[in-house]
Amino acid sequence: RASILNYMKSKIREIKDWPKTGVTFRDVCPLFEDPRAFRGCIDLLRERYSSYQFDVVAGVEARGFVIGAALAYSLDKGFLPLRKEGKLPGPNLSKTYELEYGSSTLEVQNFSSRKGLRVIVVDDLLAKGGTLQAACLLIESCGGIVVEASVLVELSSLQGRKILQDRGWEVFSLLKYDED
Ligand code: PRP
Ligand code: MG
Repeated sequence: RASILNYMKSKIREIKDWPKTGVTFRDVCPLFEDPRAFRGCIDLLRERYSSYQFDVVAGVEARGFVIGAALAYSLDKGFLPLRKEGKLPGPNLSKTYELEYGSSTLEVQNFSSRKGLRVIVVDDLLAKGGTLQAACLLIESCGGIVVEASVLVELSSLQGRKILQDRGWEVFSLLKYDED
């Protein structure tokens, strides 16, 4: 387990001062492209969630789709996309949130009741937590229950975990970076 996690970490590129000065971008695309690292990511999440009771995986556009859809398939669950504004035919629910660089809006389709639907929310990365907070609020506002918010990479020093846990959501990450 330690060795696959180290291997996965070795496939994440670090780009200093991108997309703006002072931000270090962690690029997970090379991990997705590498079959052993990608399988490692999905297998470890599948192992974790195989014992959880839930109905659907919700993925945050765009890299949350890559992980979320593969995870949903591997556990024989459905997949619910949380998309950037203006992409989904409505009716939609929307939530605007702040990012390290600017603000953004996520949407979920809302044409049937999701009352009591148990949801694992997935994205590639947790930084300050605004994205996952918006995602979890969207799930709750359409009637769902957030079972856990789950990411491949957590930038621990930015303390996004605390924002989510303070609102009562469980948080899980496969890989952590302590420095920012
Ligand atoms: C990145 C990443 C997460 C989010 C995490 O997405 O994919 O979704 O930032 O940051 P937070 O915890 O501070 O909210 P980004 O918004 O840069 O856009 P993208 O996924 O569309 O590339
Ligand atoms: Mg994102």
